Amino acid sequence: MGECSPVQPSGVEINLQTGEMLEPDRIVVRRASDMRGYYADADALDQLIRERGDPIHYEVFEKPVPETPGNLMYCISKLHPGLVGDEFFMTKGHYHQIRETAELYLCLRGQGLMLMKTEKGECVAEAMARGRLVYVPPSWAHRSVNTGAEPLVSFCVYPAEAGHNYGDIEDQGFPKRVLRVKGEPQLV
Ligand SMILES: [Fe+2]
Repeated sequence: MGECSPVQPSGVEINLQTGEMLEPDRIVVRRASDMRGYYADADALDQLIRERGDPIHYEVFEKPVPETPGNLMYCISKLHPGLVGDEFFMTKGHYHQIRETAELYLCLRGQGLMLMKTEKGECVAEAMARGRLVYVPPSWAHRSVNTGAEPLVSFCVYPAEAGHNYGDIEDQGFPKRVLRVKGEPQLV
């Protein structure tokens, strides 16, 4: 008899149309007020918080596993649609604490972009739409941006020990922002 793994096999149901995870064990909720400092137009964010009662910005639905090498963490990320001034709703974005860890995002619903940057200042945007899979390589910070009218929902999977690191993002943001220009999303 070998040593038993402390982690038991498990399953979860995901509605592939809506992207909903049916019985998550943990839900991380970020509201508009959690996004102070991230958007270009701070007054527009304050106005949104005042007028719309601090709406949910994005949610992460998880079935957490131990954060140890060998396990895979997976989640459903749901970013609501909207604008702060002319800037599309986005996630804070993060590096992984352990830089040598990548991540996969399979988009299930909505329209948007995955913005990625390195500490050297490289910046790349990949389109997100139902059926598109985006590969975030090790060392690249990543942020989702919802440019559509419905929630942007993705299934994500990454090494469980990766951890989150907001690094230089709170101070410096990303080299590019996604703004609505003449009704269309534009990287500026
Ligand atoms: Fe990540």
